[in-house]
Amino acid sequence: MRAQSSVAPKNGFPWRHAYPAFALSLLLLAAPSGFGEPAAFDSSRLAELYERMSTPQYEIGIKLVSLLGISPGSSVLDLGCGTGQLASAIARIAGPQGKVLGMDPSPYRIAIAERRAREGLSFSVGGSDDLPRLAPRSFDVVCLNYVFHWIDDRRQALGAIHRILKPGGKLGISFEDTSRPAELDELIEQSAKEVLGTLPPGLFLETAPLGLAPLKEMLRKSGFRVVVVEKTESEDRAKSPEELVAFWRASSAGRFLSGVSERTRRRILDRIKQRLTRAEGGQGIRITSETLLLVAVRSGEE
Ligand SMILES: C[S@@+](CC[C@H](N)C(=O)[O-])C[C@H]1O[C@@H](n2cnc3c(N)ncnc32)[C@H](O)[C@@H]1O
Repeated sequence: MRAQSSVAPKNGFPWRHAYPAFALSLLLLAAPSGFGEPAAFDSSRLAELYERMSTPQYEIGIKLVSLLGISPGSSVLDLGCGTGQLASAIARIAGPQGKVLGMDPSPYRIAIAERRAREGLSFSVGGSDDLPRLAPRSFDVVCLNYVFHWIDDRRQALGAIHRILKPGGKLGISFEDTSRPAELDELIEQSAKEVLGTLPPGLFLETAPLGLAPLKEMLRKSGFRVVVVEKTESEDRAKSPEELVAFWRASSAGRFLSGVSERTRRRILDRIKQRLTRAEGGQGIRITSETLLLVAVRSGEE
């Protein structure tokens, strides 16, 4: 799921907002057990939905991959690979001599990804916490397409990625700058406030906001040199508020509003849908997003 976006009905209602999937750990509220487990709220239904609806993410992933200099024979880790569409495209570039590994903490997503496995392309259940089990200096490229904002311990993840990359290896991250104010965040917050009466601090927002400047600093401290930052736009279209909300759930692996009871979630979602319906005027919802594509090189011992 992505963050900064503008939502507009086809008649051009001009909103800037954050795509909530990030914006959302509505969760910490009810202190859900297992929130620290990235796949705790996922299901095969959400994974199948993501597989059907994630073309916009795939298209951005292809742009990110084009910046990473992958060539026949490359070894690539697609971390947070979801249902494996992008990993499969990477494997077409790396060829049978290459080695592409897709990892995702959700066994439901990996079950779908495994349908794509073939020579040079394999999948494994595991997230950023599991990187220490991979051999040091074993990858030319590590790719995180709309994943980094979901990682709880980002410093640990960058350290672990540094360890498994070969010297001079490349790290690609696509993300939306969730540190900026965004109207869709507001929409979700207002809806939740109406139902809950209050908003505990830090209620929404992925695991924590992700901004370009702090990310660059974190990369520098973790031994990376940022060599490319590009902005790109994508547009999602949802036929209805229901479809949009379903996609947020699928893209966030079920984390969207997962920290509240089923009944409370339904009430908040009803409010969100009412607001979206008012905005879209029955004509469908258009969401344009600005995504940042970042490439960093593992510095040191080159
Ligand atoms: C928006 S999806 C992106 C999936 C895929 N990269 C794509 O481009 O379609 C976010 C993915 O991040 C995964 N994820 C969440 N926390 C993670 C973690 N700590 N380490 C690795 N992946 C994680 C989720 O299971 C989910 O599949």
